[in-house]
Amino acid sequence: MKIVVIQGPNLNMLGHREQNIYGPMKLEEIHTQMKNFAEQNGMEIEFFQSNLEGEIVDKIQECLGDADGIIINPAAYTHTSVAIRDAISAVQIPTVEVHLSNIYAREKFRHKSLIAPVCTGQVSGFGPFSYHLAMVAIVQIMNEIRAMREAQQAQKK
Ligand code: DQA
Repeated sequence: MKIVVIQGPNLNMLGHREQNIYGPMKLEEIHTQMKNFAEQNGMEIEFFQSNLEGEIVDKIQECLGDADGIIINPAAYTHTSVAIRDAISAVQIPTVEVHLSNIYAREKFRHKSLIAPVCTGQVSGFGPFSYHLAMVAIVQIMNEIRAMREAQQAQKK
């Protein structure tokens, strides 16, 4: 089972950027924690960060046939990107949207996510722990898909 983690614009600045909102942890440190959790749960994990919308769309498309699940923090594109939303919708891979901050407790323009309706679910507001919760959710989704497939196979016999 392979998970691809996609990080949007300015998340490479974590640890430096608005620490009062996003905390002191660097992106690499968050990824190390996620990698450990993935290893403990027998999952392969890949990380990707880009500040460019088109590169994020390309990466989502590349997940087709390669990834079983996607964890994405689209960052500012959450609130603007029809292209990222359409890419997620196109690949039909279970996707969890993540935010460090609680986007609903911030400026009004952050309250709307164009991405959430095409995701399995969203985690928002727990700082770096949001990513851990997203990993737990992905494991649960994968288990449910596996159980469903096994039940379908058993019915065929
Ligand atoms: C963010 C929230 C977005 O509104 C913002 O543009 C970000 C980070 C978060 O993780 O809290 O860059 O996605």
